[in-house]
Amino acid sequence: MKILVLNGPNINMLGIREPDVYGAESYADLLALLEETATAQQVEIIHYQSNHEGALVDKIQEAYGVFDGIVINPAAYTHTSIAILDALKAVGIPAVEVHISDVAKREAFRQISYPGMYCEKTIAGQGIRGYRLAIEYLKAKYA
Ligand code: DQA
Repeated sequence: MKILVLNGPNINMLGIREPDVYGAESYADLLALLEETATAQQVEIIHYQSNHEGALVDKIQEAYGVFDGIVINPAAYTHTSIAILDALKAVGIPAVEVHISDVAKREAFRQISYPGMYCEKTIAGQGIRGYRLAIEYLKAKYA
């Protein structure tokens, strides 16, 4: 099973960025967790992070016919990007949305998720562990 893990803007700043909100673990720690999870779950994981909306749309389009699942943290684009929602709908690949923080308990502008309207599950507020839970979910359901 091949899973694409996509991260949006500022996720590369984990550990430096608002640690009270996003925790002390770094982006490198997240990549290590993905590698551990790939081994434990026996899945192939490709990861990609971009600060650019169109680059994320390109990666979703390129996933068509290649990946069996997508784990996506669109970061701030969660709350604005109909383009990412449409790309997910276009490729039709099962997807899980992850948020490191508990967005439901944060500002009003974070209460809408466009990509979440396509994703079959949202995992939020579990820190970087949420990525592992998302991968385990996709493996259990689709492998
Ligand atoms: C986030 C939540 C978003 O509201 C925010 O813009 C982010 C990160 C999260 O992982 O908690 O950049 O997606």
